[in-house]
Amino acid sequence: MGRFSVAGKTVLVTGAAKRLGRAFALDFASRGAHLAVHYRSSRKEAEIVVHEIVGKGGVAKAFRADLRVREEVEKMAEEVISWSAPRGLAAVVASASRFHKTPWETLSEQDWEEMIETNLTAVFRLARLFAPALVTNGSFITIGDWAAERPYRGFLPYCVSKAGVAALTKALAVELAPGIRANAVCPGTVLPPDSAKPEVIERIRGRTPLGRIGSPEDVAAAVRFLVEETDFATGTCLVIDGGRLVSDPGYG
Ligand SMILES: NC(=O)c1ccc[n+]([C@@H]2O[C@H](COP(=O)([O-])OP(=O)(O)OC[C@H]3O[C@@H](n4cnc5c(N)ncnc54)[C@H](OP(=O)(O)O)[C@@H]3O)[C@@H](O)[C@H]2O)c1
Repeated sequence: MGRFSVAGKTVLVTGAAKRLGRAFALDFASRGAHLAVHYRSSRKEAEIVVHEIVGKGGVAKAFRADLRVREEVEKMAEEVISWSAPRGLAAVVASASRFHKTPWETLSEQDWEEMIETNLTAVFRLARLFAPALVTNGSFITIGDWAAERPYRGFLPYCVSKAGVAALTKALAVELAPGIRANAVCPGTVLPPDSAKPEVIERIRGRTPLGRIGSPEDVAAAVRFLVEETDFATGTCLVIDGGRLVSDPGYG
């Protein structure tokens, strides 16, 4: 048992129907948290996550919102906060995001707006709506990316949005202290997009000092550490990238 326990309290994970968000949700459920499983379009997958948690004796419910639509997020906030009573909200993990190639030559203002709204503005929106409901010593966790510091070529708005997330997390740590902590986990490649070619994955592996692609569980353990195991970290960014940041010159 860590210093702060999520058992019996609610954890909201955004983008929890699949991939990394799903891993965060299952990990916190295994620690006894009640899971608010957020999704936008992956309703079926979100229900599967809920069933998996409930099937193991846990507590979970799916909540839908398009995070780019303020009214939808406000409605979800009301629903999640009331569902989290009486034990309260232990943590919010803002994992939902967009990631796709936007080559410089064809980059449009629409690409920029979509990425910044989804990956940065929505995280700010979640912090504003949920921070007042977090229990003392609760956590607002953001998910950054090592590529905020070594931008991938062809992913300008994504990399800028994640640099913004790192800055937002530091600023939130200052604003929300001493009651609430705000920390980021910044993964390297863990789950490449389904469209990633095998040679791209091999190149990433070759550029990673630890010689492998990380697993969702590696990242989930880092999130859990910041929420439950330490209560003296705020405003930090825990890089979980197999050593890529310290050795790879970047460029994609
Ligand atoms: N995968 C990696 O290797 C990796 C590496 C570094 C950093 N990260 C970061 O880790 C986090 C999770 O990564 P991931 O690969 O699991 O993410 P992902 O599969 O790209 O996206 C997760 C979910 O975000 C949701 N989402 C997208 N736009 C949304 C919107 N407007 N409103 C609400 N939800 C929206 C989608 O939910 P629905 O399907 O329900 O629509 C999607 O399933 C992200 O912040 C990502 O940037 C991932």
